[in-house]
Amino acid sequence: MAHQVRAVVARGKGAPVSLETIVVPDPGPGEALVKVEACGVCHTDLHYREGGINDDFPFLLGHEAAGVVESVGEGVTDVAPGDFVILNWRAVCGQCRACLRGRPWYCFDTHNARQKMTLADGTELSPALGIGAFAEKTLVAAGQCTKVDRAASAAVAGLLGCGVMAGIGAAINTGNVGRGDSVAVIGCGGVGAAAVVGSHLAGAAKIIAVDIDGHKLETAAKLGATHTVNSRETDPVEAIRELTGGFGADVVIEAVGRPETYKQAFYARDLAGTVVLVGVPTPEMKLELPLLDVFGRGGALKSSWYGDCLPSRDFPMLIDLHLQGRLDLDAFVTETIALDEVEKAFERMHHGDVLRSVVVL
Ligand SMILES: NC(=O)c1ccc[n+]([C@@H]2O[C@H](COP(=O)([O-])OP(=O)(O)OC[C@H]3O[C@@H](n4cnc5c(N)ncnc54)[C@H](O)[C@@H]3O)[C@@H](O)[C@H]2O)c1
Ligand SMILES: [Zn+2]
Ligand SMILES: [Zn+2]
Repeated sequence: MAHQVRAVVARGKGAPVSLETIVVPDPGPGEALVKVEACGVCHTDLHYREGGINDDFPFLLGHEAAGVVESVGEGVTDVAPGDFVILNWRAVCGQCRACLRGRPWYCFDTHNARQKMTLADGTELSPALGIGAFAEKTLVAAGQCTKVDRAASAAVAGLLGCGVMAGIGAAINTGNVGRGDSVAVIGCGGVGAAAVVGSHLAGAAKIIAVDIDGHKLETAAKLGATHTVNSRETDPVEAIRELTGGFGADVVIEAVGRPETYKQAFYARDLAGTVVLVGVPTPEMKLELPLLDVFGRGGALKSSWYGDCLPSRDFPMLIDLHLQGRLDLDAFVTETIALDEVEKAFERMHHGDVLRSVVVL
């Protein structure tokens, strides 16, 4: 039996999203049907709508979600109907060369549901990041469901499904931020603010938040940033160096996804430190750096997909820390909205006054 549900679809490049009735099949082998309870609006959804990821329109947007498993297909044993789950966009395969070497967070062959969700006329949808959760129900691979404590609210839990996990993980997993480190975070939207939180959690001594928006900096300060730099007014490289004895930060996390901010990160980092690129660039962007500086300044230039997280390890752990009052995730939910307000949330994202708008169903 197929399910007819309401969902947010991006039909063409740059066109406003629309609320449509879509058809979601019953789960086949290895799949799970999830009743979505909440889904955050991430900048990556906007990248999809603007054609910045690829041209596989129509997209079914939404990928930062939590909900309850409604039914599972043949052979699914890890989750069962009734489980409260966070959806992840990197279900590890267990068999690729990364998984076999014991590094499943790098899995090179992550998977999604095999069956397609469609528009009412049968047109196949491309679910954003293999999820598509601005919808009353969605179909995913069972491995994309990670069971967590039901005591957490869905709006908060869902955020771990993308931006907040990407930011926390960029700091603690990819950047390997540790006790006493100095960290700078360039771009303090949902992802960057989460990198501030992750650095704080890991015991960083100095956390410098950089943004062009004063509101974002105020929030970053509340979440653990020890210093803030408005890079519309101040040269961020100079400011970060000044705040770190003239040297630069041990770890600089770029959470914007632009060549100019990447360059700032590169030059605001101390010798032999680590630059983490978590912001997602668009296909036309190019980076030019003197190769001699890349060599001479040493250290590591890393990119961070999904915070190099392992959902089965990290989601339940972070939810537990949250429930113990040690990880403030509520601060990321600026507003809760209805399914038909996603377009408005994109506009607010441009104005810069939200960390996360979260659709609650
Ligand atoms: N790597 C991953 O796994 C992953 C996961 C989720 C999102 N992302 C990407 O991370 C980036 C941030 O996502 P988000 O949801 O936090 O977006 P957002 O729109 O909430 O935040 C972006 C922030 O960057 C700031 N900014 C813009 N230009 C700037 C500049 N020149 N200097 C300093 N700050 C600037 C904005 O004011 C805003 O606060 C996006 O590129 C998104 O696609 C990556
Ligand atoms: Zn794998
Ligand atoms: Zn996202």
